[in-house]
Amino acid sequence: MSISPPSSDRSDVTQIVVVMVGLPARGKSLIAGKVKRYLRWTSVKAEVFNVGKYRRTDNPHPDAKFFDVNNTEGEKARKAAAEAAVADMLQWFQDKDNKVAILDATNSTKSRRKWIHDKIKEANLLHLFVESKCDDEELIMSNILEVKTSSPDYIGQDPEAAAKDFRDRIRNYEKVYQTIDESEKQLTYVKIINIGARVVINLIQDYLQSRLVYYLTNLHIKPRSIWLSRHGESEFNLEGKIGGDANLSERGERYARLLPELVKRSGLPKDAPLTIWTSTLKRTSQTAQHLQKELGWEKLQWKALDELDSGVCDGMTYQEIAEKYPEDFQARDDDKYNYRYRGGESYRDVVIRLEPIIMELERSENIIIITHQAIVRCIFAYFMEIPQEKSPWMEVPLHTLMKLTPKAYGTEVERFKADIPAVSTWRPKGSTAKHHDSVSEGMPESVVGEPSKVGIQKVTNINEKTKGEVPTIEMVGLPLP
Ligand code: F6P
Repeated sequence: MSISPPSSDRSDVTQIVVVMVGLPARGKSLIAGKVKRYLRWTSVKAEVFNVGKYRRTDNPHPDAKFFDVNNTEGEKARKAAAEAAVADMLQWFQDKDNKVAILDATNSTKSRRKWIHDKIKEANLLHLFVESKCDDEELIMSNILEVKTSSPDYIGQDPEAAAKDFRDRIRNYEKVYQTIDESEKQLTYVKIINIGARVVINLIQDYLQSRLVYYLTNLHIKPRSIWLSRHGESEFNLEGKIGGDANLSERGERYARLLPELVKRSGLPKDAPLTIWTSTLKRTSQTAQHLQKELGWEKLQWKALDELDSGVCDGMTYQEIAEKYPEDFQARDDDKYNYRYRGGESYRDVVIRLEPIIMELERSENIIIITHQAIVRCIFAYFMEIPQEKSPWMEVPLHTLMKLTPKAYGTEVERFKADIPAVSTWRPKGSTAKHHDSVSEGMPESVVGEPSKVGIQKVTNINEKTKGEVPTIEMVGLPLP
């Protein structure tokens, strides 16, 4: 049995402050949140320090005048909030396991950036300034609309009045805003102009800094979705065996035939082709074959999407593993994320090999991924910020298509279930239950992901006979504030 290092052990990673820069409504908080989510998924401890939150303690709903340069009281309060956030952040770095803090504020003047830079240097930390500069009016407007409806600054206020006030606030910031320029060439920075239309990178010195820059420059906010499905039921699934490279069962083939319909029903973007990604294993290619034939989409195979390698246990049932390797079986239950099969992989290993997939997904538009149980869990965990101790235990039923749509406030999930029975391959902790027929009606009790993170879950059952009819969409969860 072998356990890979626990999540806190990332001594290879330096301590870095990511300092956001930019006018309000330039997507800074969105970027800050994504960076935190990405890093945590890769086991790097990260936290966002949002100066607005500190400011709200004393000034919960300030109007635009509060942000006027000539308002000395406002200026004092804003500086105090920045100081409190920076102090807490430096305290947080006392724990050497904490690696990346994201200071989320406008930091829009050279003097403010110098003050932050001095503090960071004094504390012996690395830095990366990330400026989001945007003059695309359409983008700014959609951000303003988003802010006025979701910002705690405007809770309970008339949306029109809130939008107007927010625009006035931006005008006030514009009076003093200084973009990062040549005079700050001693700073490490990445300047992202109009969401990646142009990027300026300066003085990157460290591996994690460059990884962050790579991630940041791959992000886009064009509307798109990612479809995620396990392969159809396989012959190994029927026998309760793990791993292998088996063919689809007869029911699995039926799922493959129904999949084009299921994808169409899930709502396809107009005139935007999808690309299909599969693993290199037969059951995923077989599941994708009708999608490819009927809809004519391009298909790519990725080795990185292959199922978690179960090493010496490949081809065994859980019962056989428990009998032959009882200690391993127990160790896996105790720490499923870190447990590495003899000669195989752990979930932690899988996340590492999936990193290029995530980078590519961030760059891409509409993608449909046909892969395996453990891989779906890891990809889903990235989008939904599922903690490591939970993600390997999530139930991911066969013959169910998920559609993930990234939004400013999080990822929206819809699930479309084909009405074709399949065994359940889900094994609860402590059990050696053989794969059994799942209840084909409705959804299992357990929800894929944490309800608190799920914006919307829609479930629709699609039956081979009802092809072509309008599906009923049953809401099983509601959008959360
Ligand atoms: O049983 C189907 C399967 O895809 C196996 O091939 C794989 O080993 C397993 O699921 C992964 O799930 P878990 O980590 O829960 O054993």
